[in-house]
Amino acid sequence: MKFPAFEMERMQSVWEHKVKYDLSESGVEPLTLEEAARDVKELLKTKLGYAEGVGLESTRTFVSEFHWKSTAENVVITTGTSEANFLTLLALVNAGDEVVVVMPNYMQVHGVAQGLGARVREVWLREERGWTIDLEALTAAVNAKTKVVCVCTPNNPTGQVLSSREVDEICRVATRHGAWILADEVYRGAEREGSESASFAGRGERIVVTGGLSKAYGLPGLRVGWVVAPVETAQAVLKLKDYSTIAPSSVSEVLADIALARRPKLLERTRFLVNERWPALEDWASGRSRELHWTPPVAGAICFFSYRYPIDSMPLVDRLIRDYSTMIVPGVHFKAERHLRIGFGGPSHILHAGLAALDRLLATIGD
Ligand SMILES: Cc1ncc(COP(=O)(O)O)c(C=O)c1O
Repeated sequence: MKFPAFEMERMQSVWEHKVKYDLSESGVEPLTLEEAARDVKELLKTKLGYAEGVGLESTRTFVSEFHWKSTAENVVITTGTSEANFLTLLALVNAGDEVVVVMPNYMQVHGVAQGLGARVREVWLREERGWTIDLEALTAAVNAKTKVVCVCTPNNPTGQVLSSREVDEICRVATRHGAWILADEVYRGAEREGSESASFAGRGERIVVTGGLSKAYGLPGLRVGWVVAPVETAQAVLKLKDYSTIAPSSVSEVLADIALARRPKLLERTRFLVNERWPALEDWASGRSRELHWTPPVAGAICFFSYRYPIDSMPLVDRLIRDYSTMIVPGVHFKAERHLRIGFGGPSHILHAGLAALDRLLATIGD
């Protein structure tokens, strides 16, 4: 097994606690422990033994409630959505399989599929059509060798969502060839307006939905995620988890249960934050509409810009980090050169100062 470097996470891991202005984050300002716990005194009574590997029955029931046709039996609690994606691919993919990745995407699935010896075929969302799915290209890419189709909706890095009809179409294409779908829905619930975006849950026999508390709930530090899968697949994931993290953190599982019990409140908080902060980024970008192009995000606290400055994205971000103590994500980390992902969910003063730093850098580059 040879895993390619996960470039974005590597960069964030090195710099996120060192730079002054981190606009590389894709979530919203996190809750404090006090806000998450409701009753901190009660939390202090938590026994720090091993939690049950699969997760609390009550937490799994909460998760099943917002995944159509699922019960607690279909849910395994994991250490973040990362572990959920990792174990799902480990359970489904063998060397020599083909894995279709709808791009751009969180590159974990791309790298893990490669690491497991699969051939990755990319199907790109169409930027010129507002980053929508190209169903013809998908149909052409999926075949009898395809083991899994990986989709991320709401999408990282574009913030766009698949419609219910598109979700059905993707299911139809995969089903025709007996392929699985791995739908990473970690941003679901972070829509700026309207109801929650369409989920893949319950739309077929071979569907695994992953998600977690890191983005729409503002609780990345808990490291809580989930796999929602057919019972046999959930069991296969659980058996692999015995080799990875064994069980959820016992403190996190208590906090996760509290969070999911007040899901509507936390999602409302996230919606408030993305709506409060998006205008600042949009205003900034509007002042540069000759050099930047973007489709406003439907969900999540990220926007994916293409740009016309005569510099590649990695050297641009390198300079931004080193000379201006500010981090955004270079498009090359999504295999989309001359693009930038900017996160706007953090504290407003960080967003403003980070954008001012980016302005100063761009002034030295010209167009
Ligand atoms: C689409 C997607 N999936 C998974 C993750 C990792 O999430 P977690 O913190 O829950 O492991 C991220 C983090 O940025 C993401 O964007």
